[in-house]
Amino acid sequence: MQYAAITGWGKCLPPAVLTNQDLSTFIDTSDEWIVQRTGMRERRISHVTGNQLAHVAAERALACAGLKAEDIDLIVYGTCTGDEGVPNEASGVQVMLGAHHAACFDVNTACTSFMYALTSATAMIKTGVVRNALVIGVEVVSRVMDWENRGVCVLFGDGAGAVVLQATDAPEGVLGESLGCYGDARQSLRLRGIGANYANMGAMLGDNHWDFDGQDIFKRAVQGMGLASSQVMDKCGVTIDDVNLVVPHQANLRIIEAVAKRAGASMDKVFLTVHKYGNMSAATVVVALVEAAETGVVKPHDLILLPAFGAGLTWCSHLIRWGSRVTPLAHTDVDLPPTDQTALQLVQALRQAKGTEGRSLGQLRQPRFAEDFARTPESPQSP
Ligand code: ACO
Repeated sequence: MQYAAITGWGKCLPPAVLTNQDLSTFIDTSDEWIVQRTGMRERRISHVTGNQLAHVAAERALACAGLKAEDIDLIVYGTCTGDEGVPNEASGVQVMLGAHHAACFDVNTACTSFMYALTSATAMIKTGVVRNALVIGVEVVSRVMDWENRGVCVLFGDGAGAVVLQATDAPEGVLGESLGCYGDARQSLRLRGIGANYANMGAMLGDNHWDFDGQDIFKRAVQGMGLASSQVMDKCGVTIDDVNLVVPHQANLRIIEAVAKRAGASMDKVFLTVHKYGNMSAATVVVALVEAAETGVVKPHDLILLPAFGAGLTWCSHLIRWGSRVTPLAHTDVDLPPTDQTALQLVQALRQAKGTEGRSLGQLRQPRFAEDFARTPESPQSP
């Protein structure tokens, strides 16, 4: 039987750090509230596009695998904050890498996008469609954030991670997964202002608002990740005692603790990045996995559980078997262009842009009821 081993891994975090203290300078919040409710202390804000972050992460993953860009025959790009609607994002990375032989497609299941992309690429390797795939999870949430909404903006950050998958006969890579979606709760997290529903006279309006029911998402996240984790362990015939490491989606430390408890995993098996990167949506699990590998936490042949959830509300859990190699074959000098802007300056520029052109436009597209809007794909009413 064919498997899809993880042979390369890389991440790219933008350098600008936004602290809880920074947030408290422009919204009514505090370091104490954010740490206590979420476990987050800081997050990164990007000065470049998602494609640029993804490109650097991909170059690092390729070097780690000892492959050249021409060796890649598939790029799957997970994101919900793409730089443009058309063309797709994966094709941008293909050009930047020079991966001219790669087929390219994007996956958007919000925070689970990297995990669903991993499933897609693994299936294509297992069925012989491709042999070498690059799977990317990237998000620049800062660009679509409502920075006036303290219930949301403290939770997210920007980043990118990538893995290289290669066909092998050894039982490595994804051994199994459980995927699902609570579509009935899709209105719990909606980013209004992006998409054809919000087009006005054929043009997007350039502003956005978040519908965000944190408590509903919290409950569904614990339920979905808990269910998926027990299902995938049953499917693979293992118990939590066989699992060496849990690398979960990092939306909130309290969610992670609840999921670990449901799965019967002690927290010392759980790898955490939530305190320093927040929730990077599609980039979260892959960045955490890469960091676990880079810091020596991942050991040869480890069995790793990866529970995740995202808007939709999509949920999943994957079991992967790491290979024998835990060190990169090579490194690359490719890096982001430098910036002298602080994260707070980057955020203030985004707030100013929205303040000058977005606020009044935002009034134009309040759907009458979020639930109606979920069922009826109609354009919001103009006054
Ligand atoms: N600072 C200070 N106070 C705040 C803040 C803030 N940043 N945000 C909200 N509050 C206030 C509220 O206004 C409320 O005040 P009130 O009692 O006077 O009305 C109070 O704090 C409590 O608010 P709750 O929403 O009840 O707080 P809760 O304990 O539920 O925590 C949180 C909120 C952190 C959002 C939590 O519900 C959560 O983590 N939910 C899931 C996270 C999530 O959905 N992440 C995205 C997942 S999807 C994805 O990953 C794409």
